[in-house]
Amino acid sequence: MDPLFEPRTVAIVGASRDRKKLGNVILHNFMRGKFKGKVFPVNPNATSILGLKCYPSVEKIPGTVDQAVIVVPAAVVPAVLKDCGAKKVKAAVIITSGFSEVGAVELENEVRRLIQKYDIKTIGTNCIGIFDPSTGVDTLFLPPARLNRPGAGSIGFITQSGAVGSAAMDLAGRQGLGFSKFVSYGNATGLDETDLLEMLGRDPETKVILLYVEGVRRGQEFMATARRVAAKKPVIVLKAGRTEAGARAAASHTGSLAGSGQVFDAVIRQTNMIPAHSIAELFDYARVFSTNKVPKGKRVLIITNGGGAGVLTADAVVQSGLELAVPSERTVAELAKRVPSYAVLHNPLDLVGDADAARYEAALRLAAQDPGVDSLVVIVLYQTASLEPTINDVVVRAARASKKPLVAVSIGGQYVERQRLAVEKAGVPTFEEPERAVRALARLTEYHLRRPAP
Ligand code: COA
Repeated sequence: MDPLFEPRTVAIVGASRDRKKLGNVILHNFMRGKFKGKVFPVNPNATSILGLKCYPSVEKIPGTVDQAVIVVPAAVVPAVLKDCGAKKVKAAVIITSGFSEVGAVELENEVRRLIQKYDIKTIGTNCIGIFDPSTGVDTLFLPPARLNRPGAGSIGFITQSGAVGSAAMDLAGRQGLGFSKFVSYGNATGLDETDLLEMLGRDPETKVILLYVEGVRRGQEFMATARRVAAKKPVIVLKAGRTEAGARAAASHTGSLAGSGQVFDAVIRQTNMIPAHSIAELFDYARVFSTNKVPKGKRVLIITNGGGAGVLTADAVVQSGLELAVPSERTVAELAKRVPSYAVLHNPLDLVGDADAARYEAALRLAAQDPGVDSLVVIVLYQTASLEPTINDVVVRAARASKKPLVAVSIGGQYVERQRLAVEKAGVPTFEEPERAVRALARLTEYHLRRPAP
């Protein structure tokens, strides 16, 4: 049993009677969701909260307590940790802020000494904590009506910033992405980014790791761990605090030293992690990597029903360091039997403006079998009358059946957006801009070509 993600008993210390306070929201999360264990509110000033009997201290709870979620003001945290130590609590999530990030370094050191003394596996301080869609452990103090909780999936997200992390997860959930585990670790008074990377590296449910960091504490250990984990599964990193102004903001955010962006870029290259430069890129890459398709090489085939979109994509392919595939003679000959004479049978493969779903189906089937093609960009401009609604099934079926990575691009307004989201939710990475699709494909290709043989 992992006391952080699979606790059987959880104490919410600082569970408030006030619906607007963080401790109340967290207690509610454990009661409303999937959590199967027992939850105990702890508050010396209340007898019952949300209908549950309230305990004056952790020690007074009957039986063992696996995890304590601590949501009391900073000055009270050491006393609560002593209480947890006496009860032999195995894990803690300390939401409370007001430590080194505002100069209270000694108070944070005291907290660190106590969690080491009592050997409590701790997330925080100054964090939003953890969310596990499978077990229902949910310390996110943002009410579900305001922050969507995504479903279970294969993405593990480690974030120094609780707000960036949870808002980004909210956004990603809207596109149908599923998560294995979410951890916001704030000041890292307990576990830091290196520990968490190691942990998710070993987690069988996590296939792709996302990391938002401002500063790294143990540089050498971080590098060694990152190299080892990235050889097993993709680690996509968004490093914030790259400029002097950003680094200053990071210091007062989680009390960490941001370090230079250039040094971090070198670390990313040497460890074969995947660099992302924005939240959008972080999730673009997450979507493509979580399909688990491995390109054998750099040769991309573009299939389109619009010439201009094909040209833009061809530029993006070359500029990103990928190559344009040359369709085999067989592909061209077979396709020629199924498309009108005015279709362009090169790369981009232009099925032209009156293309229907059958033309796409033929092109996708032949491309999947073509040994000269390593990955596919399928552009579907839904605005044409000849495209039946079955086109989405054609693209989704092709993506599922193919061993080659496939990304879809659709540019347009409301109608197009609805179609694109339907394809995305069926598990195909879709993009509104060819450049973003190709960039994600390029990162996927680089990662796999550089990855040491298992
Ligand atoms: N044990 C248990 N509960 C205790 C307690 C103790 N020793 N001492 C007080 N409490 C109770 C209080 O009575 C209160 O319950 P009530 O509202 O029913 O009276 C509850 O714990 C909370 O204490 P309160 O003093 O009201 O604090 P608060 O809720 O206003 O603030 C924090 C506490 C942790 C939320 C606040 O200090 C904080 O750190 N906020 C920022 C959190 C944050 O942003 N984290 C980083 C995110 S990225």
